[in-house]
Amino acid sequence: MRDRRLILQMLAFFLVGTGVLLFIVLDVVHWFPAAATAQARNVDRLYKVMLIVSVPIFVLVETVVVFSVWKFRMRPGQENMDGPPIHGNTRLEVVWTALPAILLLSLCTYAFTVLHSNEKKKANEMIVDVTGQQFTWTFSYPRANGQPPVKSLELYLPSNAHIYFRIHSKDVIHSFWIPAFRLQEDAVPGITTDYRATTTNTAATYPIVCAVLCGLGHSTMRSFVHVMPPGQFAAWEAKAGGPVTAAPGQAPAALGKQMFTSSLGCGGCHTIADAGTSGTVGPHLDQVLKGPKHSAAFIRQSILQPNAFIEKGYPANVMPQTFGAVLQPTQIDALVAYLRQVSK
Ligand code: CUA
Repeated sequence: MRDRRLILQMLAFFLVGTGVLLFIVLDVVHWFPAAATAQARNVDRLYKVMLIVSVPIFVLVETVVVFSVWKFRMRPGQENMDGPPIHGNTRLEVVWTALPAILLLSLCTYAFTVLHSNEKKKANEMIVDVTGQQFTWTFSYPRANGQPPVKSLELYLPSNAHIYFRIHSKDVIHSFWIPAFRLQEDAVPGITTDYRATTTNTAATYPIVCAVLCGLGHSTMRSFVHVMPPGQFAAWEAKAGGPVTAAPGQAPAALGKQMFTSSLGCGGCHTIADAGTSGTVGPHLDQVLKGPKHSAAFIRQSILQPNAFIEKGYPANVMPQTFGAVLQPTQIDALVAYLRQVSK
């Protein structure tokens, strides 16, 4: 009679505990940022299944622990008593070995099928070369007919498309991570690693992060991925592949300001009052560029070969050395024109 009541109490504790905890982990806590690829949705589903399977097991163990401490605790006068001697229960041992084994194998199989389908080669994949270099990401889009690839410091992708990333590094190990894509892949010098993503039909912008400590500027090694409708992407690619010029009526310095504040993200590291930026990783440009000693040639060299002259108090090798490879001559001229203008 007492046993039956105890079992009912434990069962109630287990059911309520499982219900409450499942509600918390499935509905209250939002574990991940938005899922921006088909692969990300698979990963989220896998995570959800893992939670649904592990919560009841966790609560079952906790139920037995709580009831052991509560109902079977030692009471005054029982100090010298011992429990009944138990040795061997074959049925119990078979059950507690077989059940977890079956559960674990099933989950491993499911996880493997998710990984396999996420990494499967798709038809009509668009190739993007990703290169990590202290401390920036460069994205290069190979083009047909021997045209030079389109290069960009931010990643642009069409929506509803299969993307195949080839990942390279020019110096040390970096890790290419787009949290919204749920995949992370190391960029290793000397080899090419890869990564597949199928964008969804949502047009949005998500952060790109370097996920391996790669030097002083590691925390600044960030970029953005812009997922856009295919038509808009084609327009971007045509524009990025063509010569960059200032808009009609726009002075080169105005294009330079636009690049400084937004497309190149210089303002993330440098302060210029006129541009409204306040980065402190690199020199305060209003201060260090003041005065006549900084010629256009000096500014140009500081953009293309940042290590040629290092401002006192700042470390070398933090500013990306890739701008010469990524920017077109008109863009460099525009940037120099803008920096000349603000330093006068
Ligand atoms: Cu590159 Cu951290």
